[in-house]
Amino acid sequence: MEARPAVDDAALGRGAWSVLDANRTGSATVPAPGLYPHQWNWDSTFVAIGLARWDTRRAGAELLGLLAGQWRTGMVPHIVFRPARAEAYFPGPSVWRSQENPASPNGTPTSGLTQPPLHALAAWWVWRHAADREEAAALVRRLYPMLVAQHAYLATTRDLGGGGLAAIVHPWESGMDDSPVWDAPVGALPAVRYAYRREEPPGCHSDSHQDRYVWLALRYRDSGYDAAYLRDDHPFAVEDPMFNGIWLASCQVLAELAPLAGADPGPHLEAAERIRAGLLERLWSDGVFRARDLRSGRLSPVSTVGCFGPMLDPGLPADRVEKLVGVLESPRFMGAAGYPVPSCEIRAPQFDRSRYWRGPSWVNANWLLRLALAVHGRTDLVRLLGAGTLRLVRQAGFRECFDPFDGSGRGSGDFSCSAALTLDLLADNVGE
Ligand code: GLC
Repeated sequence: MEARPAVDDAALGRGAWSVLDANRTGSATVPAPGLYPHQWNWDSTFVAIGLARWDTRRAGAELLGLLAGQWRTGMVPHIVFRPARAEAYFPGPSVWRSQENPASPNGTPTSGLTQPPLHALAAWWVWRHAADREEAAALVRRLYPMLVAQHAYLATTRDLGGGGLAAIVHPWESGMDDSPVWDAPVGALPAVRYAYRREEPPGCHSDSHQDRYVWLALRYRDSGYDAAYLRDDHPFAVEDPMFNGIWLASCQVLAELAPLAGADPGPHLEAAERIRAGLLERLWSDGVFRARDLRSGRLSPVSTVGCFGPMLDPGLPADRVEKLVGVLESPRFMGAAGYPVPSCEIRAPQFDRSRYWRGPSWVNANWLLRLALAVHGRTDLVRLLGAGTLRLVRQAGFRECFDPFDGSGRGSGDFSCSAALTLDLLADNVGE
């Protein structure tokens, strides 16, 4: 592991700010220098969450900048490109060709996929923590119609299974790009080979799967990003528990924000209930929530950090919470790792301690789990997760992810999500 001097809270906080400042380009914060030179969807929501207690205006600008990329369908794209660096990332704007689609925003090139709908939760976090209440309320009023449109898009265009859940149509939409959960559905796609420039760190995806990922994106693009094509023909459609758990939590806080915008909270609470029912009926199996592959009808055999997403729901029945916490604490996840939380269960044959979402611990996933545990009053585990996460960044820096056994850093350095969420954890004073 990298030898680093011990870092106290103040130095850690200063380090986090300098990463966020260095990665800031106009209103957006890019996820990491070099590797990810554009604005990414859920990364920006985590950045806004991290900034919430310190700088309402900057947190708001981060969300508004991202939502400037929102399509007229309500879809919030997973990448909003900075034209100056247009082709510095593959697949870039010339691959997605969003500008040829009348639903895309004028003059803002984006990808054609989305990412977990954490936006309402981020807006609520900013509103909840803002010192200037008026400024925060004004921000909520601006964001509210965009968030409503995003949720309506998910409830209509993405309910591909007809059971009240939103389906992701590409692994990139999960935020957990190479999770073993996608191995079966991606393995069922045709074998293809492309010649293109790779920017991904080595070991990030197996090559044949990376080619299929690109193929899948091109198929959707070539349909004209068409909703009927997604429903009838697109070969990848998965109901993911983390994506839907986040959506449910966002519906609940949207209900709290609605009165600020003079709107009725009722529909958001009804949406939350529909999602809860869908999760329990369609994804609960064998003591955890599992992703459902709508094309094969199968539930994923692998348990990952995504299985705990529905715990973000305060209304999740207590017996399910208890079962999930049992799995989380067991040697399958936290019980056998030195650091929280392995992204894949340790006993799974696919577990790989150093490959991205196939084993390493991520600050953003830890933050979500910590919130879920707080929602259910598990303060013991909240403390453990907070302290363990701070230990990771203190020892290895603001890396993209970390080896869950020895805490060494993996993937990119100066990762904005890790830095921003460290600020939030420090504010909660969970240091050791
Ligand atoms: C990787 C991660 C994803 C993140 C993106 C930008 O693709 O898997 O979660 O949004 O990088 O940081």
